Amino acid sequence: MSQKMKDRVAIITGGCGGVGIEVSRTFIKEGASIVIADMNDEVGNALADEMKAAGGNAIFCHVDVTKEEDIKGCVEKCVETYGKLDTLINIACVMGIETGYIHEVTSEMFDKDISINLKGSFLFTKYALPEMMKNEKGSIVNFSAVSAIRGMIGHSVYASAKYGMECLTRMIATQYGKNGIRANCIRPGVMTNPNWEDTDFGKEYSAFMLSHMPATRIGRAADAAPVVLFFACDDSCYVNGQTLTMDGGLTCHEPQWKEDLAEFEKGLR
Ligand SMILES: NC(=O)c1ccc[n+]([C@@H]2O[C@H](COP(=O)([O-])OP(=O)(O)OC[C@H]3O[C@@H](n4cnc5c(N)ncnc54)[C@H](O)[C@@H]3O)[C@@H](O)[C@H]2O)c1
Repeated sequence: MSQKMKDRVAIITGGCGGVGIEVSRTFIKEGASIVIADMNDEVGNALADEMKAAGGNAIFCHVDVTKEEDIKGCVEKCVETYGKLDTLINIACVMGIETGYIHEVTSEMFDKDISINLKGSFLFTKYALPEMMKNEKGSIVNFSAVSAIRGMIGHSVYASAKYGMECLTRMIATQYGKNGIRANCIRPGVMTNPNWEDTDFGKEYSAFMLSHMPATRIGRAADAAPVVLFFACDDSCYVNGQTLTMDGGLTCHEPQWKEDLAEFEKGLR
């Protein structure tokens, strides 16, 4: 293994979710010491135990990203345990808080959605930056979603929060590049994970999305881990403030009328 994260210390928020687990395992393989920051105590403790048993440096830290004291405490715990913090991966999210059209969204839904999907990452960044500045080195990787750049029904607040993550990325890059700190963002399309890919809904949804995209298969959580690794490690040392779409080509094309497509396929045009 290449050990691209040797001597690095990373906090991975949402570390118990589909992408978070893949990123945690990849970072451990690449030599990082990690803090899995999530609300899911059962998965988080089991994951950390599994990694420690295999010789990795991993701890689980119970964090609700809507609670500033949890976030501050997690950064303190990281520095207390490993002596520093140089990598922050902001993955924690909740989808599906809001329902329907904008006029049906309550202010409670709005506040909860923004609190988890944007404010939590902002606060993690706020507390991580001073630690990164101490060593003049840091990499922050944020998560957006293609809904941030496409209209959708039922995702107005989530998409606004996700576009906020792209904006936050540029702000960090602009303000802290001079301190040796980079920030980049990943904008995924659809990524299944073992929790739902084999359910009836998962299969139907995947087939539907696949019929609208050039890829030969739907995205998986594991597809994101190498992209996160690229942004986190020195392979991307001169990339700062960027958002990379990772969607199998979902958003690169215009819809085309099915009859037109059929004629192209038959070579009639
Ligand atoms: N899966 C997709 O199809 C998809 C599509 C576009 C964007 N994204 C984005 O990619 C990232 C990874 O998605 P995923 O599929 O791994 O999500 P996931 O739902 O599998 O994982 C989310 C994690 O966040 C944690 N979490 C939720 N609320 C929390 C809170 N208040 N405090 C702390 N932790 C909390 C959950 O416990 C879970 O472990 C997310 O930022 C998501 O918005 C995912």
